[in-house]
Amino acid sequence: MSENLLEMKNICKSFPGVKALQNVDFQLKPGEIHALLGENGAGKSTLIKVLGGIYHPEEGQIFIDGKEVAITDVNSARDNGISIIHQELVLVPYMTVAENIFLGREPKGKFGVDFALMRKRAQEMLDQFDLGIDADTLVANLSIAQQQMVEIVKAISFNCRILVMDEPTSSISDKEISALFEIMRNLARQNVGIIYISHKMSELNEVCDRVTVLRDGTYVGTRDVATTPKDDLIAMMVGRELDQYYTRDHVKSDEVVLKCVDIDDGKKKHKRVDHVSFEIHKGEIVGFAGLVGAGRSETMQCVFGLTPGSTGEIYIDGQKVQIHSAVDAMKHGIAMVPENRKVEGLYHQQSVRFNSTIEVLEQFISKLRVNEKREAEITQEFINKMSTKTPSHEQTVTNLSGGNQQKVMIGRWLATAPKILILDEPTRGVDVGAKAEIYEIMNELTKQGVSIIMISSELPEIINMSDRVYVMYDGKLTGCISYDEDLSQEAIMKLATQESAGGKTV
Ligand SMILES: Nc1ncnc2c1ncn2[C@@H]1O[C@H](COP(=O)(O)OP(=O)(O)OP(=O)(O)O)[C@@H](O)[C@H]1O
Ligand SMILES: [Mg+2]
Repeated sequence: MSENLLEMKNICKSFPGVKALQNVDFQLKPGEIHALLGENGAGKSTLIKVLGGIYHPEEGQIFIDGKEVAITDVNSARDNGISIIHQELVLVPYMTVAENIFLGREPKGKFGVDFALMRKRAQEMLDQFDLGIDADTLVANLSIAQQQMVEIVKAISFNCRILVMDEPTSSISDKEISALFEIMRNLARQNVGIIYISHKMSELNEVCDRVTVLRDGTYVGTRDVATTPKDDLIAMMVGRELDQYYTRDHVKSDEVVLKCVDIDDGKKKHKRVDHVSFEIHKGEIVGFAGLVGAGRSETMQCVFGLTPGSTGEIYIDGQKVQIHSAVDAMKHGIAMVPENRKVEGLYHQQSVRFNSTIEVLEQFISKLRVNEKREAEITQEFINKMSTKTPSHEQTVTNLSGGNQQKVMIGRWLATAPKILILDEPTRGVDVGAKAEIYEIMNELTKQGVSIIMISSELPEIINMSDRVYVMYDGKLTGCISYDEDLSQEAIMKLATQESAGGKTV
């Protein structure tokens, strides 16, 4: 028997204008957790989709236990013991969690599907993670983090031999991540081979044994995680050393540009935003930290005019304003990059050009004629600024890699030249090099007087980039910490879990 559980050899896959994979090799041993690392657009998801039978490579072979296999479609991948959590969530929104988990393999009783059994089994699986998700809930009513957890639970439930996770932790919080890692280690002990894709470098040391790096669709190398310095891996990924990661020049200003008083979602039951008051100064980066579900995104949605029935007062530059829609918010100089690019963010079937310029169209439409030159300039400006990888302005956004979609979306909002920029998980799914670029852009913007609100579940990013951090728990603010006070992971986690009796209330 071969010592490799899986071997992919010489895989080549092209798309129009893009060689996504060129002669890529990959090997996975039983019981190992093997990270796949590379910048946005390096080819990670494409390699996984070849393994999953979604893309058919022009060249290359796949071996399982040393025997060549033909993976022609999703079912044959599954028959070969391969289970994949894809980067973009694929649950059916208007089915329950239990129905999604058992889709196509519902347990049968005497009279067709045994719903009670299905619900019971699904609930048991969910409870392993201590998720507090009811198996009867419609997926559409779950948060993104919860949906991601359901995807994970579903993939694991297949008793697979090869489990692939394409950025599973990009939208879940630390508590769920620890639970996930524990389950991964358990599966590995049972000889499952796990391929793990993530842009969070710190996770490598925590769970991975080996790492394979891809760059521009080519294989760069495979290393043992324990003995390879992080900087070496970054150099392998980006082809150069990265000198600076976080860029932040703290600016102290007392000028309040945005003041929110008693923001509330107006709901009687299941309140997600409960009388939240805060203020943002000119040129500040203000972090919003908290566990997933703490109400950070929901608070900003109220501020941005997206929540009908929400209450509270909003002052911009000291003037009380009424914001009942995103258009109102934009009129007052607020822009918001939402958390979920798939649903709220991008026009997926439209081009990079369309998505980059849609919010600033009026700048180059006159007498109903589009100034195409200006449009192209703006598109190119933000492709450059964000280092977005796309073969052309006309590429359909859905064909960009996940991280590059995120860059298009941030670029679009920067194009509106906002005074106040709300970023909800801005670096989710973005590679290390591009993260550093986004931080630099944020820092630059604050120097120009732009104020930034950043919701993030990545504590290092919150701590290193913020002037002040507000922490939320269960719809309420539990505290505010300034960068020159005790701004540490521990201090934030205390407020985020309400361990501290009462915390400093603001
Ligand atoms: N269906 C498609 N049609 C056209 N081009 C595609 C398609 N899928 C992927 N590509 C291109 O192939 C390249 C590799 O993309 P892939 O999604 O594999 O990157 P990735 O390493 O997963 O990046 P990320 O970290 O951003 O998720 C990119 O240039 C991408 O734009
Ligand atoms: Mg990807």
